[in-house]
Amino acid sequence: MDPQRLDEVARAMVAPGKGILAADESTGTIQKRLASIGVESTAETRRAWRELLIGAPGLGRHVSGIILYDETLRQSAADGRRFVEVLDRAGVLPGVKVDRGAKPLAGHPGETVTEGLDGLRERLAEYAGLGARFTKWRAVLAIGPGQPSRACVSANAHALARYAALSQEAGLVPIVEPEVLMDGAHDLARCEAVTTAVLAAVFEELRGQAVRLEGLVLKPSMVISGTACPQRAGVADVARATVRCLARTVPAAVPGIAFLSGGQGDVEATAHLAEMNRRGPHPWELAFSYGRALQAPALKAWGGQAERVALAREALLHRARMNGLARAGAWTPESEATPAAAR
Ligand code: 13P
Repeated sequence: MDPQRLDEVARAMVAPGKGILAADESTGTIQKRLASIGVESTAETRRAWRELLIGAPGLGRHVSGIILYDETLRQSAADGRRFVEVLDRAGVLPGVKVDRGAKPLAGHPGETVTEGLDGLRERLAEYAGLGARFTKWRAVLAIGPGQPSRACVSANAHALARYAALSQEAGLVPIVEPEVLMDGAHDLARCEAVTTAVLAAVFEELRGQAVRLEGLVLKPSMVISGTACPQRAGVADVARATVRCLARTVPAAVPGIAFLSGGQGDVEATAHLAEMNRRGPHPWELAFSYGRALQAPALKAWGGQAERVALAREALLHRARMNGLARAGAWTPESEATPAAAR
């Protein structure tokens, strides 16, 4: 591992004006996404959808990196070039999800621990050989009565740290993703308390495993009211609570924080990011690593029709541009209507 190289890649992933496109849906999740537009999930339809994203012209303007699923990292564009090569040309860093999913946590019904540490060193070496520059591991924490339990927080934080250390050893920047789910009737204050406790535990474990903070990217959920909360907090409150929570838990040595969207609407996720950046400067870059919030409009526009690829790509690039503006706090609702040529 060359620490300087690691730090450089981490900084590039959260470079000003840019963020990460999460396109690492596992086979089960992508099947649901494709089913929503009436497309059957096969190796070829998954490849075609991912090629639409990867080959979008000018993707690198606002997208620094893309998180791929194992299958996609090994696939090629229709013209025979490997996706990794297409991304290199476009100036977009290829990354890969390396966890093996959230599995039931023993003795704690309804809670999960993310698995995948066994054999991870060998898999990371293979991913590095395939051209990946960074990796991702997602831990999932639900808010409910008595949840998340201490067992759930500590098991997931420990696994995240073990993963991050192995990833850095392999020369791959780890995206450390502790996701506190939005599901539930909890309010903003409860989400802030839980997220603060989770992030504190994660950084304690990262320190314990001697993970290099300069060479990682944190991918947290925003502090936000539960989807079933009777009085959901507005944009300003979400931004204030999220920034306060991060300031209390994330060391300034971390170069950047790239939020997940977690089921927020695409414009909602952009508005929150813009408001947080307007409240800067912060010790870290505040970027995005959205999956659904970047892909949803494009997926709908595509509908599995080859003749609508260009339209779908424009929808993707529009969201990337909007989030690029949000990175500088320059996005306003009016930006959404600005024609591409004027941007
Ligand atoms: P969402 O932005 O759709 O939550 O996806 C991000 C991600 O990578 C979840 O693991």
